[in-house]
Amino acid sequence: MEFSLYLLTLLLLFPQCTAQWCYQSQYSCDDTCRDPSRWAAQFPSCGGLRQSPINIVTSKVHINSALPPFDFIGHTNAINITVENKGHSAHFALPQSVRLTGGALPGHYRAAQFHFHWGGNGRPGSEHTIDGERFPMELHIVHIKEPYGSLAEAEHDLAGIALLAFLFEETTDDHPQLDAVIAALGRVQNNGSRTVIPNFRLSNIIPAAKELHSYYRYVGSMTTPGCEQAVAWTVFHRTLSISSRQLDAVVKQCRFWTGQPMTDIFRPTQPLDGRVVYCSKAAAALPGVSLLWFGIFSAVLGTAGLIH
Ligand SMILES: *[C@@H]1O[C@H](CO)[C@@H](O)[C@H](O)[C@H]1NC(C)=O
Ligand SMILES: *[C@@H]1O[C@H](CO)[C@@H](O)[C@H](O)[C@H]1NC(C)=O
Ligand SMILES: [Zn+2]
Repeated sequence: MEFSLYLLTLLLLFPQCTAQWCYQSQYSCDDTCRDPSRWAAQFPSCGGLRQSPINIVTSKVHINSALPPFDFIGHTNAINITVENKGHSAHFALPQSVRLTGGALPGHYRAAQFHFHWGGNGRPGSEHTIDGERFPMELHIVHIKEPYGSLAEAEHDLAGIALLAFLFEETTDDHPQLDAVIAALGRVQNNGSRTVIPNFRLSNIIPAAKELHSYYRYVGSMTTPGCEQAVAWTVFHRTLSISSRQLDAVVKQCRFWTGQPMTDIFRPTQPLDGRVVYCSKAAAALPGVSLLWFGIFSAVLGTAGLIH
């Protein structure tokens, strides 16, 4: 009796100890995977005070004139990149020749990989939200500070990792340069499968550094376990475009390591816990523009006798 109780306890505990982390979309009551609310049980940093992603409240950002533009290196070079389904998302490996400096970051950073976060069936899937709004998709380009060689080495440096984030907006017209990326996702449907995109240029999918002077900056973490708190985040004000047709193709192709459709691959937003989100001066000009438009709009309505 005692022995079978012991066995039962073991059986109940065992899956807990070996559970894989998963996104909320994968979790169901009979599943043993760890959904985002339970990542910290296995990966303590996930319960830390500098976690990502966050909701950026534009009325609370601190304008900082000491946030200059970036200098991108190797973004226009044609490279062969390997794409791999990692079970939770697909990674596009970048060579060390792709680098960046500037952006008020403390040093030189070399690119490691980029990946996307998306939703599913019309649901938005960005990780960062702006004033509570979730965008259809988000691109993350991961860079490691020199001379570190891996995330493990960079982990103890507050700015060991530089992550560039771009939010996507849905458009009616295709963004033709994304087709190679979307086709590659179609060739890595299952965990562990790989493909190559030949002659890829990062500048095909993101604008040149000189067009990217407006951005938000805060200190945070990786958004997947171990949630290492070593990331200088840059969320660009400039959005990228993707058509509804392309977005539909993105969310329908890949599968998680469990074989389920890979949808809604984003972590819920985390508390700010006293952190400040900075905004480069160029980005700060934009609320002024929208206020101006609001002024024009209310003047028009006012003339029409709708606002008094
Ligand atoms: C990419 O691969 C092709 C052949 O698969 C090769 O000819 C070319 O040199 C490679 N380009 C780079 C930049 O490595
Ligand atoms: C997913 O693939 C990786 C190799 O790419 C492998 O290490 C891992 O065990 C796989 N996961 C499952 C659950 O099959
Ligand atoms: Zn990411």
